[in-house]
Formats: sequence, structure tokens, C-alpha cells
Amino acid sequence: MDFEEIGTENAYRILAPRPTIIVTTINKKGEVNAAPFSFTMPVSMNPPLIAFASVTSHDTYKNIAEVDEFVVNIPNENILKELWITGEKFPYGINEIEKANLTPKSSKKVSPPGIDECVACIECKVHWIKKAGDHDIIVGEVLDVSIQSDSLKEGLLDVKKVKPILHLGGMNFVVGDHLKKVE
Ligand SMILES: Cc1cc2nc3c(=O)[nH]c(=O)nc-3n(C[C@H](O)[C@H](O)[C@H](O)COP(=O)(O)O)c2cc1C
Repeated sequence: MDFEEIGTENAYRILAPRPTIIVTTINKKGEVNAAPFSFTMPVSMNPPLIAFASVTSHDTYKNIAEVDEFVVNIPNENILKELWITGEKFPYGINEIEKANLTPKSSKKVSPPGIDECVACIECKVHWIKKAGDHDIIVGEVLDVSIQSDSLKEGLLDVKKVKPILHLGGMNFVVGDHLKKVE
């Protein structure tokens, strides 16, 4: 195999395509925010902890500093355009759920709403936040998980049906519905 050096700053580009989420938060005034994130992963099963990384200038980060709860919403191919709209830079306090014509969904255990059009909503309370270079890692303890009926098959996400979105970079996404089993 021939290999080439591409520069350490490009490591994140090849750790891709990445599962992509929309994080919903509120500030002290109760104003709702939504934004997409692809630096995300589960970090513990017991207790259930999941993480994402955000730059501190994002409204999402500011809101979490005020109200230490958030919802991780799992989008799919049907709302790719809407996901992109939530990623646009709107003034602080503007509700991207409304801007993207999506529907807020009341959460059970946390104050920020989820997104009704998303396949699943994972309600979290902040466990810890730690600086990691130019991003901060936000770890959330999962308090509730709800998923659209019939989205699981034998305990796994039914990717052929759900068509989850994976971020490749920029405006490029992969739809993760190609299932392959180890033979
Ligand atoms: C697909 C996608 C993935 C993104 N992933 C991240 C990420 O992991 N971390 C981050 O800080 N910003 C990420 N962004 C950028 C933010 O979503 C974007 O700057 C957004 O406007 C921030 O919104 P907010 O200020 O309302 O929180 C991503 C954007 C897109 C479109």
C-alpha cells in the first residue's frame, strides 16, 4: 500500500463519516436553541453517559452553562435540509427549531424540548464539561431515551428504515443505510 502524509490537522476529516445529532437546549429565559454536532460519542454504558464536543462560542454551549440539561436528537435523511438550517448562525435567543420548520416535542425529564421529526430523543443532564483544545467536551448523563416505534430491529437501529445521517465534512453527508454483516 502507498501512504501519504496529510497533516495532523486533518485527523478529524478521516475520522468520518460521523454520526450527526441535533442538540436542543434552553437558556435561563427559556429560549430554545438547536444546532447540529458530529463530534459525538457514547462514553459509558453504566451509568449511561454520552458526549459531544462544542466550541465555547456556540449558543448551545452558552445555554448549557445556564441550564445544565440538553437533548440529543437523532435526525435522519428526511430532515437533512432542516438539520442544515439549524446549523446556520442565528442571533442568540433565536429558536432554530422554528427557523427550520421543525416541531418541538416536550421532554420527560429535562426542560429543553426535543424535536418531533427526529428518530430518537436522548434527554441528558450535564455530568461534566472539560476543555479539549479548541472545543470543550460535554458529557451528559442519560435520563430518558425515546425512539420512534419500529426503529429497532433485534435491538439494533434499523438503518435501512431509519436512514441515519453521517457527516463527511462541509455540506457532504453519507446516509448510513448500507448494512453489512461479518461473514
Ligand atoms: C453537520 C454539522 C456538524 C457540526 N458539528 C459540530 C461539532 O461537533 N462541534 C461544534 O462545535 N460545532 C459543530 N458544527 C457547527 C455548529 O452546528 C454551528 O456553528 C451552529 O451554528 C452552532 O449553533 P449555536 O450557536 O446555535 O449553538 C457542526 C455543523 C454542522 C452543519
